[in-house]
Amino acid sequence: MGQQLVDEKKIAILGAGAVGQLIYQQLLTDGNAPLLIARENERQKIVTFTALDGQVTKSTAILASPKSVSPLLEQVRLLIVCVKAYQVSDAIRSIIDKLSPKCHIILLHNGMGPHLEVPELLHGQGLSLGTTSQAALKHERWHIEQTGSGSTQLGHLTGPQLSQELRTRLLSAIPNSQWCEPILPSLWHKLAINAAINPLTAIHNCSNGKLAEEQYCNQISATVTELAEVASADGIELDKSALINRVYEVIGLTAANFSSMHQDVLNKRKTEIESINGYVVQRARHHQLSTKVNLSLLEQVKKMESDYLK
Ligand code: PAF
Repeated sequence: MGQQLVDEKKIAILGAGAVGQLIYQQLLTDGNAPLLIARENERQKIVTFTALDGQVTKSTAILASPKSVSPLLEQVRLLIVCVKAYQVSDAIRSIIDKLSPKCHIILLHNGMGPHLEVPELLHGQGLSLGTTSQAALKHERWHIEQTGSGSTQLGHLTGPQLSQELRTRLLSAIPNSQWCEPILPSLWHKLAINAAINPLTAIHNCSNGKLAEEQYCNQISATVTELAEVASADGIELDKSALINRVYEVIGLTAANFSSMHQDVLNKRKTEIESINGYVVQRARHHQLSTKVNLSLLEQVKKMESDYLK
């Protein structure tokens, strides 16, 4: 009976990176049978999960590729998109024709921007957005470890609403998650934290904790101040000093960690700078505002990237 209910309102995760696999594990643990949509052609995969308390579990994940004509894709009623911001539009394009108009889509990635493009790709599906402070590390392709707990905010953006039943199942599965409306202020809030911490740790090759030093204070404050002005022009009022305090709180709480952008640069991967400080600069241009500090951070990280990405 329970299994039948799950299959009728299937939940799928598009993108099996660290966050995608973490959400998969949390849904699984809470009694769901989520589908993982990934590049691989295999139908199933043994996935390993190391929890925050060090406990290791293995499970068999059912996989589908966006290219497959899997009947499972038509049954999906909630698609959680966990690819990087710069992959979101292509990932949705690759699958949208196989999804039912009754499917609801949630974008869950660092940074902002895709929510401006995705609505025109939809064929009747509703769209929600989310942001999470949970952290996970990928040890191997199919082995992730949860490295940080934290809150998750989700909320509606456009089109038909996510059904109450699926919303309840999602919030029950993800620890410390809330449905927030409007959702955009939560995304701007998280963007400010990433805009202040990520590029500086990548440029100065340091841990998050190092940014507590006096020498970074003006840049952190200016990055957040510019961002709050741009958000305000976009109709989102943020409390600038509360936000700066929060940035320092996150720096303290994650002092020993290396930010995701630091790790991307270290491993010579494309970074998320375009959807973090790049998004601030893009919205600033739209409103004819100047964001010198965000622009400088964007250019410095782009320069580092161009030295290793050909
Ligand atoms: O991107 C990251 O690394 C994280 O979001 C944060 C909050 C900056 C902590 O490392």
